[in-house]
Amino acid sequence: MYFSHVPLAPADPIFLLSEKSAKDQRSSKIDLSMGLYYDEQGKLLPLKIIQKVTEIYQAQPTNHLYLGIAGHPQFINKIPEVTVGKTYMTKFAVGSVQCVGGTGGLRVVGDYLKVYHNQATVWLSTPTWVNHEGIFHAAGMSFAYYPYYDAKAQSVAFESMIQTIETQAKPKDVILLHACCHNPTGVDLTIEQWQILADLLVQKEILPVFDMAYQGFADGLMDDLKGIHTILDRCQVALICNSFSKNMGLYGERVGGLTVVSVDQQATLNVISQLKACMRANYSNPPRHGATLASLILNDDLYFQEWQSELEMMRQRIVQARISLKQGLDAEGLILGPGDNDFLVDQKGMFSLLNFSAEQLTLLREQYGIYLVDGGRINLAGLQMKHVPVLCEAFKTLGF
Ligand code: LMR
Repeated sequence: MYFSHVPLAPADPIFLLSEKSAKDQRSSKIDLSMGLYYDEQGKLLPLKIIQKVTEIYQAQPTNHLYLGIAGHPQFINKIPEVTVGKTYMTKFAVGSVQCVGGTGGLRVVGDYLKVYHNQATVWLSTPTWVNHEGIFHAAGMSFAYYPYYDAKAQSVAFESMIQTIETQAKPKDVILLHACCHNPTGVDLTIEQWQILADLLVQKEILPVFDMAYQGFADGLMDDLKGIHTILDRCQVALICNSFSKNMGLYGERVGGLTVVSVDQQATLNVISQLKACMRANYSNPPRHGATLASLILNDDLYFQEWQSELEMMRQRIVQARISLKQGLDAEGLILGPGDNDFLVDQKGMFSLLNFSAEQLTLLREQYGIYLVDGGRINLAGLQMKHVPVLCEAFKTLGF
């Protein structure tokens, strides 16, 4: 029988959980699993600016033609302004291609590394987004892990991180860094830590690759480039995979970018040409619709400002959700962090990791309909104020 040798692949934990939650009919259900932004009423609405540019797009003559391999020209021209910023663009040779979401960019990087950096090990943080390992494994790259998160202290395990890279990484290895809003922990490096890391990367000629899926959710769209800038100041090179899934709410449109930064125009052009070769051999050329919407925003100053204001509103709602959960826990005398709950307000972006066991997570899900990702990741962008007392009650039964 054909296919008899094919076993069932394990399901992706985030998508599986999201499907389980979708099937859960309880009206009291609280889905804090997948990284989606909900408003305070629990709605997943498109951004107003997306609705506006969609109308403009729909009024244009229908165009279902192929984009070029590198993507929508007016979109890719603007990606570096977002992912590198105008000032740094003048200091470096920068170029971007359109990718199928942030994930697509990472996979293209993996395919490119396999050809031109094939002796390199890709260093991933522990923990990291569940798909990172799968992406680089699928590309045929070797990978290893550096410690990143100190669960007890709810902070970056910086000394172990540096020590591991210093002692175990080979020259010319590759490191995958979360530019901001680390997924799943919410703990980011300080500027001083970025500087120390950058010095080490220079010393070992390690190539920094950024995954920037949550730009705008930590401190603001441009403020969230400080890690990238600090690395560029010293390393003078980076590959940056960014996603507009979250910050434009274009999730299923798969709108992402891959930006090459080097000190040499020809080197950047050469790398871009190789990325295009990887893309052509994979999906030929990227989809048109979402990139056109993004390009309409990025090419119009007014629309760009409207987008930034909406993004800032989303950011502030997440900050408020963090404060509310902390206050709710404090009021109940429930301590989830090292001595207090301050970590919730110190951490950045959609996620924090609550140190719950697998049994506790199952109990939360089955008994209370509260959905957190394996490992205890909570999506604070899904939290409504009315959820706080419900969560506190449920957490109490876990023995805190
Ligand atoms: C997440 O981490 O929840 C998102 O990035 C969605 C995904 O693709 O896993």
